[in-house]
Amino acid sequence: MLEKLPQPVIFAHRGASAFAPENTLAAFRLAAEQGVEAIELDAKLTADGEVVVIHDMTVDRTTNGRGEVRHLRLDEIRRLDAGSFFSAEFRGEKVPLLREVFEEFGRRLFINVELTNYNAPLDPLPIKVAQLVREYRLEDWVLFSSFNPWNLIRIHRLLPECPVALLALEGRAGWLARSNFMRWVSPRIIHPFLADVTPESITQEHRRKRRVHVWTVNRAEDLEALFRWGADGVFTDDPALAMQIRSRV
Ligand code: G3P
Repeated sequence: MLEKLPQPVIFAHRGASAFAPENTLAAFRLAAEQGVEAIELDAKLTADGEVVVIHDMTVDRTTNGRGEVRHLRLDEIRRLDAGSFFSAEFRGEKVPLLREVFEEFGRRLFINVELTNYNAPLDPLPIKVAQLVREYRLEDWVLFSSFNPWNLIRIHRLLPECPVALLALEGRAGWLARSNFMRWVSPRIIHPFLADVTPESITQEHRRKRRVHVWTVNRAEDLEALFRWGADGVFTDDPALAMQIRSRV
């Protein structure tokens, strides 16, 4: 499916998060209304083993609650307001379950699920996510990414038909992550940080037969440059802007 989407693929980063609270159904709905083909979201587990969509390790920044997601039960998280931190207009938005996103957007939008259990990398998150993908028959509609190669190794074993992408850190740490990862899984896709990307690095990855999806790209001049350099995808908080630029580059 990834190759059949408009190219370069535009991923609404945590939804249309420039205009709606990140990682909420409101942000994903706005991205869908704007006509983008793909979204990116962050998955992690609650204390009682439910898969929720939230970026940070804690709920502190994006909700009116406090505490680590992995130490809160689903019912505690669902009581929180995940919209007001962004603006009063979105008061009452909830932290979504991954199941809700799959239910509403599955087979309509391509979905990049970032496995973000970085402080509990051996938890059952990949297993739970894989079960949901199978339940909703989204094997052709999801792409997994993570900064932690182990997550990708685990999800690749569970869902070998789904593409995986390494989120590449900058500099030395990025090189180490890439080299360790390469021993176990040969990813078809790499997700580098914007500041690390050059026309030459894109060409080099293409020679290795890898797609390059760049994060997080919000400035018009960066979007335009990446499209001209041949990037295969971008993550952006402003998918409408990215689509506008893609249509004229
Ligand atoms: O995968 C896209 C990259 O931007 C990282 O996403 O949500 O962790 O900022 P996020």
